[in-house]
Amino acid sequence: MQTNNNCIVIFGASGDLTHRKLIPALYNLFKFGRLNKFSVLGVARSELNDDTFREKMREALLETEETTPETLDAFCSHLYYQAVNTSDAADYGKLVPRLEELHTKYQTNGNTLYYMSTPPSLYGVIPECLAAHGLNEEKDGWKRIIVEKPFGYDEKTAQELDVQIHRFFEEHQIYRIDHYLGKETVQNLLVLRFSNGWFEPLWNRNFIDYVEITGAESIGVEERGGYYDGSGAMRDMFQNHLLQVLAMVAMEPPAIINANSMRDEVAKVMHSLRPLTQDDVEHNLVLGQYTAAEIDGKEVKGYLQEKGVPANSRTETFMALRCEIENWRWAGVPFYVRTGKRLPARVTEIVIHFKTTPHPVFSQNAPENKLIIRIQPDEAISMRFGLKKPGAGFEAKEVSMDFRYADLADEQVLTAYERLLLDAMKGDATLFARTDAVHAAWKFVQPILDYKEAGGRVHEYEAGTWGPVAAEKLIAKSGRVWRKPSGKMKKKV
Ligand code: BG6
Repeated sequence: MQTNNNCIVIFGASGDLTHRKLIPALYNLFKFGRLNKFSVLGVARSELNDDTFREKMREALLETEETTPETLDAFCSHLYYQAVNTSDAADYGKLVPRLEELHTKYQTNGNTLYYMSTPPSLYGVIPECLAAHGLNEEKDGWKRIIVEKPFGYDEKTAQELDVQIHRFFEEHQIYRIDHYLGKETVQNLLVLRFSNGWFEPLWNRNFIDYVEITGAESIGVEERGGYYDGSGAMRDMFQNHLLQVLAMVAMEPPAIINANSMRDEVAKVMHSLRPLTQDDVEHNLVLGQYTAAEIDGKEVKGYLQEKGVPANSRTETFMALRCEIENWRWAGVPFYVRTGKRLPARVTEIVIHFKTTPHPVFSQNAPENKLIIRIQPDEAISMRFGLKKPGAGFEAKEVSMDFRYADLADEQVLTAYERLLLDAMKGDATLFARTDAVHAAWKFVQPILDYKEAGGRVHEYEAGTWGPVAAEKLIAKSGRVWRKPSGKMKKKV
């Protein structure tokens, strides 16, 4: 039986992700009794020690988590720190006695989960340095390695990175994290589709007109301008998070729910994406960059004025794309996908637009049938359809049936990082990206990268708006409009 008793080694322990996401996730798992025998070994170059690391993590937890002094003390007693020059293989030798000591103290049988939360330039280096000291070998307990995004910078570098990691870790030991897959509502999409008889017959080209996927953020790039400028919306959100969500919408039912069957289906979707042509990148793609504006009486900087962003940057903070999936289920159904920073709301949602009736009997403006799957915030599913407006005549009016996820949650719902960390400890890779799907996703977006590289157009949009006008025109070509969701799912009846 798999056990989640282990030592979690976090590379990049002094970084942002560690105190914002990883430590709070581990803290909550501990608080709710999901971690038993475990220790956390923070590793970075900074000269901290166990006490100073604990103090920093304690401060971070006090800022974000509901806690009591007892639980906080109990959790922090499991935290340790080892300073290592992470680009020097010899220095990793320091980890050997530290890990031995921790495994003995916590009876964790050599089980070790490495988490690479470092700059991506170290993703190829760390596995090699661990292997130099036998720290990848599974003779005494399992060894797994979590790789944060970005997994590569393009198709070629993703392949190179795979080669580097595979020299020292086998595929079953590698967990490529995409935190969108850890979101409860993304998983719920699978349950909605595959545990209800009535969606499946409709879930195809015969009944679905088009699919809209939005990953909107109201924040700008904040303190991450330096990283973001080398990445842009395409690499930061689209190639990974949104394509994974698209795959969940489009995939075939897996034969069984396990890592291989699920990921086989995801990979099949990625492989079925119709390759983007020159015409697509010129006419079915819109890139945008936000400019300064006043939002709610406050001045908001434009992207070019953000810290760490070169004044002449052409990096996109918005992208919208019309794409298609070439298979029996989806042929001819457009998928409109958009993502951006500094949009009017923080909202991630999928809208399945069903075809209208063949002939509008009651009014010219027949109500649209749509299924809105709100991933965040305010997780919900809303079905929109037409009913008779009370009174004389037969005028149809769009009404909605809403289900809010919070109504179902009678137990603690794990956040994405909590869920994924726990899964990795249990050896369940179902919700982690597999190498073939990652490569297929890079291959699909390569024409967009080439277009950017070749100086493709980046439109301006004012911060606080739904992106460039060109994005409206993109969808309007087929007589459609983007939904303009607010942060909250409004009750319509
Ligand atoms: C991260 C991106 O992967 O996802 C960020 O690097 C983005 O730029 C974030 O803000 C969005 O995640 P979430 O869970 O807040 O939607």
